[in-house]
Amino acid sequence: MSTPAVALSRIDSAFAADVREGLAREGQKELPSSWLYDDVGSALFEAITCLPEYGLTRAEERILSAHAHEIANAIWKPACVIELGSGSGGKTSHILKAVGAHQPDLRYCPIDVSAAALRACAKALAPFAEVRPVEASYLAGLSQAVRWRRPHEHLLVLFLGSTIGNFARPDAIDFLSVVGKHMRSGDSLLLGADLVKPVERLILAYDDPTGVTSAFNKNLLGRVNVVLGAGFDLRLFDHEARYNVVAQRIEMHLRARVGHSVSIPEADCTIHFQAGETIWTESCHKYRLEELDAMAESCGFRADARWVDPDWPFAEMLWVKP
Ligand code: SAH
Ligand code: AVI
Repeated sequence: MSTPAVALSRIDSAFAADVREGLAREGQKELPSSWLYDDVGSALFEAITCLPEYGLTRAEERILSAHAHEIANAIWKPACVIELGSGSGGKTSHILKAVGAHQPDLRYCPIDVSAAALRACAKALAPFAEVRPVEASYLAGLSQAVRWRRPHEHLLVLFLGSTIGNFARPDAIDFLSVVGKHMRSGDSLLLGADLVKPVERLILAYDDPTGVTSAFNKNLLGRVNVVLGAGFDLRLFDHEARYNVVAQRIEMHLRARVGHSVSIPEADCTIHFQAGETIWTESCHKYRLEELDAMAESCGFRADARWVDPDWPFAEMLWVKP
């Protein structure tokens, strides 16, 4: 007996379209990294942040815990806090505590495509602010969230964790410029970015010996199986993290061990893989400080303050809308 066809949700249809477009094309196969974060992917990302080899999250946590009061004093108040791609919001408590010390009725709006991450975030941060989670992509969520700012309030937009590094360099500038268009004079953006560091350190951070990042990467094919009825055998793919010296970025790939074909019924396609062929699943760009300062100006901000972690070079920047 055949299974009755069930219409895909709007999000699943967007996923099907990206999978078809990214895998059925000529040349390098590619999938957008935003799809890495289903419930399993978000849980695996949380595990990555605890790995000894992945220094980014701890570096940013050190900066925020040491400088949250300085950041709170530097922003124009009262402020409404909006976070792009909040994840579980672990580090954000430092900021909310410090800003909330001046403002007992603080409101915080985390925006994320992952429902699981947002649930964890809302629970963890409820003690520090009134939390209004928005399950949406960054800019759609931002357009909604800015409507909740009270007329006398400034915005503090958080974009932490070096998620900006997951955008191609020109896209990062376009994206932050659009974020700035939603902001008014005196509003602030707190932006975290991972800095260039020795390649061996970076490769270990993205290809950890425990295999958590490998599981995070392969789970994307698991999601294609679950949501789109595909027949990927995850054991036929290897996780690969490469450093592209020219582009100054880690590139995550999934490499087919053998030549084979995979049917993806809900995306209406069958994909052939040659032995050794890869799917490019994520880029993690690494920055130099001078480049970040120049970026502030290109995106229409004034770079007001910056903190750098000495143990794991990572920069936290406070940019203000002039
Ligand atoms: N800011 C957190 C989480 C970083 S992981 C930290 O610093 O640890 C990146 C987060 O962005 C994930 O929770 C993921 O679900 C979310 N995300 C990825 N693409 C997104 C998009 N297009 N719109 C909104 N959120 C997105
Ligand atoms: C969310 N983002 C900043 C992480 C990064 O480091 O680029 C995602 C990640 N991918 C593999 N490990 C972590």
